[in-house]
Amino acid sequence: MNNIFEAPFVREMCETTANMYRLGWDERNGGNISCRLDAPMVEAYLDPGRVLRTLTLDFDASPLAGQYFIVTGTGKYFKNVKHCPQDNLGVIRIRPDGRAYEILWGFEDGGRPTSELPTHLMNHVQRLKADPKHRVVMHCHPLNLLAMTFVHDLDEKKFTKTLWRMCTECIVVFPEGVGVLPWMVCGNDAIGEATAQKIRDHRIVIWAAHGIFGTGETMDEAFGLIETVEKAAQVYMTIGRMPVRQSITDVQLRSLCQAFGIRPRAGYLDV
Ligand code: 13P
Ligand code: ZN
Repeated sequence: MNNIFEAPFVREMCETTANMYRLGWDERNGGNISCRLDAPMVEAYLDPGRVLRTLTLDFDASPLAGQYFIVTGTGKYFKNVKHCPQDNLGVIRIRPDGRAYEILWGFEDGGRPTSELPTHLMNHVQRLKADPKHRVVMHCHPLNLLAMTFVHDLDEKKFTKTLWRMCTECIVVFPEGVGVLPWMVCGNDAIGEATAQKIRDHRIVIWAAHGIFGTGETMDEAFGLIETVEKAAQVYMTIGRMPVRQSITDVQLRSLCQAFGIRPRAGYLDV
């Protein structure tokens, strides 16, 4: 059996959480990540028959039956993950009936997966329907995006179009736009269901006054989406009190889409 501390999926979680902390996206225990893993990869490092603990789910995760995930722990600080992955991370597998999951590695100090596990698993179910290669759900609390949800209309079309106008590349990176949820209590099935509904046809969902969910086939893709949205929000908050003299028009956004061969969300460009 290989040394799990050297597994690429453990190393990648250590590097990503450190990077997110460095960017100020994950104060204290803020943020969580889950990444779907292939069985042969996991079973090169772990005995699949050695279950440490079984915990219940109060929703139906059966579309993910048998799937392995590496996830961050609840209450754990991203800044500490790389120093002690075995306490701050865990590898879980969804039980065949989808009503429970097994911990096969990690959470050694008695911890458990993130309180946002319902949202993560429900998002995985929906994104896998849209993209069978989907793997990553990432949540964090970037400063400018949070600030923007206090001062900008939360209408999805308006929010998306403001982001698209802040940096030329935004419409190329997320042509489907962003989903936006009003403030809700976090860490439960209800916010999970509301988020999963939006994540079906967006890879990004914003929680007002809380943070963002980014998804993707790779850690880089989920990270890059969040990074791009946060940069656009930073431009928006930076120019907020200044008179805007020029911006990117809908005609220009349309010509960007033509140049890059992408289709923006239907009905969002008024040309
Ligand atoms: P956890 O520590 O349970 O992952 O919660 C952090 C968070 O960001 C909740 O939305
Ligand atoms: Zn959060």
